[in-house]
Amino acid sequence: MGILTDDMKRLVAEQKLAFHATVCPDGSPNLSPKGSTRVWDDDHLFFADICSPQTIANIRAGSLVEVNVVDPFVRKGYRFKGRAEIHEPGAAIFAEGIERMRADGSKLTGRVKAIVVIEVRDAAPLVSPAYDDGATTEAGMLEAQRVRFARLHERQARG
Ligand SMILES: Cc1cc2nc3c(=O)[nH]c(=O)nc-3n(C[C@H](O)[C@H](O)[C@H](O)COP(=O)(O)O)c2cc1C
Repeated sequence: MGILTDDMKRLVAEQKLAFHATVCPDGSPNLSPKGSTRVWDDDHLFFADICSPQTIANIRAGSLVEVNVVDPFVRKGYRFKGRAEIHEPGAAIFAEGIERMRADGSKLTGRVKAIVVIEVRDAAPLVSPAYDDGATTEAGMLEAQRVRFARLHERQARG
């Protein structure tokens, strides 16, 4: 059995968008969203480097990666940490990553510079403190956020 549970895999597959943190050579943090985040297997995640120069430079310089993925409606998610490997065109893993993205409906495969595979060494849940009251349920949270986003989208549509 790998480190990634079925629920972790479900959430990553559903959300696709995750935030990837690395450390710059000067010690400063670097955090950026990757909508191409996917499960590779029971122990690995991956994302496509399309335009992530600083994340790639930091990984090449030896930075570990932390990935946070959260369902913004349920307000729960997971954090993952591990070492990453960069696979460029010509590598078998690059070709397989592109194929998996294509199979998943991605229209960006022609712009991918590298497939980055993260070996997950640590995995932990993320839960909003809004649940600490013991009364808030996932269904209640989902409905409250659905209403909030619906209002927001209405306002945006009105301009
Ligand atoms: C919602 C969203 C999803 C994104 N997905 C990706 C992605 O999958 N791969 C990628 O290389 N860039 C993606 N980007 C763009 C990078 O996050 C952006 O170019 C960022 O500045 C890269 O920073 P970095 O060089 O520090 O990684 C995405 C941006 C947004 C807003």
